[in-house]
Amino acid sequence: QTTRRFQFNVEWKKVTRLCTTKQLLTVNGQYPGPTIAVHEGDRVEIKVKNRIAHNTTLHWHGLRQLRTGWADGPAYITQCPIRGGHSYTYKFSVINQRGTLLWHAHYAWQRASVYGALIIYPRMPYPFSAQIQAEIPVILGEWWNGDPDEVERIMMLTGAGPDSSNGYTINGMPGPLYPCSNRDTFIQTVEYGRTYMLRIINAALANELFFAIAKHKLTVVEVDAVYTKPFTTTSIMIAPGQTTTVLMTANQVPDSTGMFAMAARPYLTSVFPFNNSTTISFLRYKNARNRRGKPPNLSSLKLYNLPAMEDTAFATKFSGNIKSLASPKYPCDVPKTIDKRVITTISLNLEDCPAKKTCLGYRGKRFFASMNNQSFVRPSISILESYYKNLTTTSFSSDFPEKPPNAFDYTGGDPLSQNMNTEFGTKLIVVPYGTSLEIVLQDTSFLNLENHPIHVHGHNFFIVGSGFGNFNKATDPKRYNLVDPPERNTVAVPSGGWAAIRIKADNPGVWFIHCHLEQHTSWGLATGFIVLNGQEPSQRLLPPPQDLPSC
Ligand code: C2O
Repeated sequence: QTTRRFQFNVEWKKVTRLCTTKQLLTVNGQYPGPTIAVHEGDRVEIKVKNRIAHNTTLHWHGLRQLRTGWADGPAYITQCPIRGGHSYTYKFSVINQRGTLLWHAHYAWQRASVYGALIIYPRMPYPFSAQIQAEIPVILGEWWNGDPDEVERIMMLTGAGPDSSNGYTINGMPGPLYPCSNRDTFIQTVEYGRTYMLRIINAALANELFFAIAKHKLTVVEVDAVYTKPFTTTSIMIAPGQTTTVLMTANQVPDSTGMFAMAARPYLTSVFPFNNSTTISFLRYKNARNRRGKPPNLSSLKLYNLPAMEDTAFATKFSGNIKSLASPKYPCDVPKTIDKRVITTISLNLEDCPAKKTCLGYRGKRFFASMNNQSFVRPSISILESYYKNLTTTSFSSDFPEKPPNAFDYTGGDPLSQNMNTEFGTKLIVVPYGTSLEIVLQDTSFLNLENHPIHVHGHNFFIVGSGFGNFNKATDPKRYNLVDPPERNTVAVPSGGWAAIRIKADNPGVWFIHCHLEQHTSWGLATGFIVLNGQEPSQRLLPPPQDLPSC
């Protein structure tokens, strides 16, 4: 087993985008952060040095962390934060996973700029036959002129929605539709006739995105580090926390510019629907006439294939096209039967907080978010630690409600009264090792038009069903896909609909479940589940490392 070692210094770096120069939180001064490239089966050790005056943690999003929950990263869930001046080495093995993932900070809103690609090269050859000329990371993100942590603080203080970012980025570059950004444009050179692998990552804080390349077709071959049945599309939809690997053949004849635009913009945005929300980069054909690589005239940029804003029909069709490969070499291990089903609402709440109500100390009308009316409160000590050490001052309880407290009807005329009863706490689901767990995520659609990207730590899951309206316990399970459902770590639950996911709970430890729209996590759209140790030594959580930070 090869051990690959990385050193990550969390540090400030002066960076300029959109005519604004500011101290940006980075890893090793890079924005986006360094790529972690490893091979299936490797041991990985990432020494993180915190060189700032604030706490930090890092998370290897989608990496299973079998028995090594101590290295997962979400602050106060699996570890206390790394304090300023301190270090912590994340140690884990890459077992039976391959493809594109991402890593990001998991403290406050630091992941706004602290993120990067995590690439796992497969042990066996790719299951698709194309000759790949080069791999191109395409990391979608957001740029904030201000300090994102301050945006979160003000949002919690006022109870209103957060300020949005100032622009979207491809590999840290906003591109020419934004002010002062002509030179801050990502350009990738390609050769005619060659096939490229694009590793597309949505590291944005707050938006699902469409991504497309003018005139070029994209063939999806893997999502969330799991191979899929290949399918071809003109654009993709990708939620924060999701990754999508596509093959693209450079088979178009360029015009005199030699360039084709690659573009991303939100599925939904309330601000400046065109220019200020579309990030552009370019494919530059080598040997095309424009040898100096001068960016084309912006008027030629109508030429990308992006769906219209809020094109739900496209989004639904696209996610419906994603199927597990389910081949002899890469079988689909979806649990055919379940031991336990949890039905939970995922809601935004406009909460009235009179003096007699907890509301985390906040007063007045304000936003919160909840699952089964439980708004998740992050404790002040690590849940994994208090669970492992059996601390009497536990930071959590094991009584997450298994069904919505009120009979729920999202089509009902009075969503307000059904959603004004938020309770605050740290309630988790507890299951024995090996449980086949089904979680039905029911969006209430109240105040929310986006699809909530629900992310599960420590496990992949199978999306066995989804639909619009209310989940029907009697009829919907009969239509589940138990043959080749997509296997992922983040599911975009349709707005005004539901998604049913199945998890084989085979990773002992404490695992966060939350919405990957960052403001929703701040408002409490989260829970967690504990997988108890199994009988065999190989089914037990490993002891904590020596250098685990303390609170
Ligand atoms: Cu990508 Cu809990 O996060």
